Amino acid sequence: MSNNRTFTMIKPDAVRAGNIGAILKDIQEGGFKIVAMKYTKLSAEKAGEFYAIHKARPFYGELVEFMSSGPIVAAILEKDNAVEDFRKLIGSTNPADAAPGTIRAKYATSIGENAVHGSDSDENAAIESSFHFSGTEIFG
Ligand code: CMP
Repeated sequence: MSNNRTFTMIKPDAVRAGNIGAILKDIQEGGFKIVAMKYTKLSAEKAGEFYAIHKARPFYGELVEFMSSGPIVAAILEKDNAVEDFRKLIGSTNPADAAPGTIRAKYATSIGENAVHGSDSDENAAIESSFHFSGTEIFG
C-alpha cells in the first residue's frame, strides 16, 4: 500500500468559523498537494457510516450529530509519508494537547469540535478516500 496519500476533512466548526482558507494554506505550506477536494455536507447516515469504527464509543452520537451539522471540505492529500506527517501538522485530537502552531492548536475548540480530521493509517486513508471520491475525481 502506498504511503504518500492521506484523507482529511475540514469539519463543520472550522467551516462555520470561516477558517477554510487559512487551513488550506497551512496544508499547502506543509508540503501537501491537494489531489482531490469537495465542499459537501454529510447526512447523519453518511456521518454514522464514516465513523462506524467508533460506534461503541460514548461520544458516537455527538460525533455523528456534529459531523452532519453543516458543510465540510473533504480532500485527498499527497506527500511522502503523508499519514504521519499530516497528523503532525494537525496536532493531537484534543486541542488542549496539540503542539503550538498545529492546525488544531490554532483552530479547534474542543476534542469533539476539533477543526480537522486526518486518517490514522494508510489503510484507513484509502478507505476514507474512496468513501468520498471516485477515481475520476482524483487528479494525481
Ligand atoms: P477524528 O480524528 O475525526 O476521529 C474521531 C473523532 O471523534 C475525533 O476526531 C474527535 O472529533 C471525536 N472524539 C474523539 N474523542 C472524543 C471525545 N472524548 N468526545 C467527543 N468527541 C471525541
